[in-house]
Amino acid sequence: MRNFFPISYSLYRKKLIPKCTVCHCASSCPSYNSTASFSASSSSDDDDDLEQKTPSSVSYMAGSHSHYGPGKLIGKTALITGAGSGIGRHTAFLFAQEGASVVVVDKNMSAVARAADAVKEFGGSCLGICGDVSIPEDVEAMVSKAEKAFGSLHILFNNAGILDKLDHDAVDTPIEVIDKTLAVNFKGTLYGCKYGIPAIKRAGGGSVINVSSTVSLVGSSSPKVAYTSSKGAILSLTRELAIFHAREGVRINALCPGPLRTNLIMQHLKSEKLERLLKFIPMGRFGEAAEVAKAALFLASSDSSFMTGSSLVIDGGITSAFDSPS
Ligand SMILES: NC(=O)c1ccc[n+]([C@@H]2O[C@H](COP(=O)([O-])OP(=O)(O)OC[C@H]3O[C@@H](n4cnc5c(N)ncnc54)[C@H](O)[C@@H]3O)[C@@H](O)[C@H]2O)c1
Repeated sequence: MRNFFPISYSLYRKKLIPKCTVCHCASSCPSYNSTASFSASSSSDDDDDLEQKTPSSVSYMAGSHSHYGPGKLIGKTALITGAGSGIGRHTAFLFAQEGASVVVVDKNMSAVARAADAVKEFGGSCLGICGDVSIPEDVEAMVSKAEKAFGSLHILFNNAGILDKLDHDAVDTPIEVIDKTLAVNFKGTLYGCKYGIPAIKRAGGGSVINVSSTVSLVGSSSPKVAYTSSKGAILSLTRELAIFHAREGVRINALCPGPLRTNLIMQHLKSEKLERLLKFIPMGRFGEAAEVAKAALFLASSDSSFMTGSSLVIDGGITSAFDSPS
């Protein structure tokens, strides 16, 4: 028997989670989370800090909000790729907090070990695997290890992704950058579906969540053609597979986040570019990985039971905007 004790409850008892000042729940909520007011002038120290969160701060950032209530994923096993950092890491905490056994995968061995140790330290059931989603054998192995460790796989979060500094327009983007970006972002997601969907069917059904981006919905004058094409392909893939598997108990949806305060763009864009980008976000701030993790939880859980083939946009208003309040 798995010895799971809800993280939020144990942390609250240890008084590690301060009470929310808005609703007095024992956790974080968007109103409480002071990091939400990040400005583009953050230094690279902040970027390091994004990666180096202590387990308690990561758990806190991931949010154990009582409005969700613990236990939405009790008895489920979730495999999360790109879980060594950003959205994936936050989602691992949130899913574990909600009762899932989590399999965290990343190509960065030390990052995935840190994430797995941190989840386990707080009472979650977690298996860490070092693997590269662009290698089909790695993806097949991670799915099979998840089934072996926890008996079955119900949730697949195809989240790993890269954005190369040299990714630009069609003329200037190096061929290697195009190939590598499509291999990780698009093929990695397709391999996840190839090996993950049969496992989810063996488990009796579940949810696949693919990570696209707002760049697949609107154009930009700062092109990154390889990244944008890979994210567009993920949306098409999601729709097609969702319809094909619609009567098999496998729901397949996509998340379309806007710019977030994670390593992916904070480490790549210079502060002037971040400053410019910020002006186009109607809500006037970058999103947080924890905010996307909550959307992933919605798609993973039965709260979204009548959703398949959808794209859930989490973008501070970008894709609805003609202009932005200045
Ligand atoms: N940050 C944003 O603004 C933003 C916006 C829209 C979509 N997204 C998407 O969200 C996803 C997560 O991004 P993030 O912001 O958390 O980035 P991040 O850089 O913080 O995390 C990505 C993780 O994926 C891992 N990874 C990269 N290549 C891998 C591979 N081949 N195999 C296994 N793991 C690999 C990295 O080691 C890293 O830990 C990505 O697919 C990204 O494209 C991000």
